[in-house]
Amino acid sequence: MIVTTLKPLLAKNRSWALQRRQRNPDYFKKFLHQQKPHSLWIGCSDSRVPAEVLTGSHPGELFVHRNIANMVLEEDDNLLSVLQYALFFLGVTRIVLSGHYGCGGVEAALNLPGSGLEDQDSALARRIKRLRDDIQSGLATETSPEARLDRLVEANVRAQFARLVTSEPVRQIWQSGQPLEVFGCVYDLRSGHLKELISQSAQEPCL
Ligand code: CO
Repeated sequence: MIVTTLKPLLAKNRSWALQRRQRNPDYFKKFLHQQKPHSLWIGCSDSRVPAEVLTGSHPGELFVHRNIANMVLEEDDNLLSVLQYALFFLGVTRIVLSGHYGCGGVEAALNLPGSGLEDQDSALARRIKRLRDDIQSGLATETSPEARLDRLVEANVRAQFARLVTSEPVRQIWQSGQPLEVFGCVYDLRSGHLKELISQSAQEPCL
C-alpha cells in the first residue's frame, strides 16, 4: 500500500521559508499587504513548466493562469476573470503567453483520431477537440514527427495569442492608451530556455 502524506511538501516549505528569512529577515513582510505583479503569465499546466521557477521570479512578481495547452478561449470565465483582474485591478503591463515543446495537450490533439478521447464527452475530450481545431492548419505539414510537434506547439501559441490580443480586456486597455505588451513565447524543455515568438504592444489598425 502506498501511503501519501503532506509531510515531504511541508518539510520543503519550512526549509524554503527559513532560507528566505535567513537571507532577508523582511522577505515575507513586503508581501503582507499588497501584490503588485509586473506580469501576467498564461501557460500550460505541465509540471515541467513552472512559471516562477523558470523565470527566476519571487512571490509578488507574476500573476499566473495555467491550463492544459495554454489556451485562450472566449467562453473560459476562469481565464477571462484572471485577465480582467490582472489588467484592471493589478495593472500589469506585460502578458506572457507561453507554450512549450513536448506539450502533451498538443500531442493529444495531433493524435486525436482513433484515440480514446475521440468518442468521449468529457471536459478533457472537449478541450483537446477544441485544441485540434486551433492547430488544424498545421496538421498536414510534412516533416519528422518531432519537428511536426514543435511546429504545432508554435502554431498553438500563435492561435491562442491571436485570441488574447483581440480579447475584450486587452482591447480596452489599448483603447484607453495604457501601456501593455503581450508576448507569445515557447519554453524549451531540452535547454530550459524561454524564447519569444511574437509580440504586440498596441491594437492593430483596423483596415
Ligand atoms: Co503542455
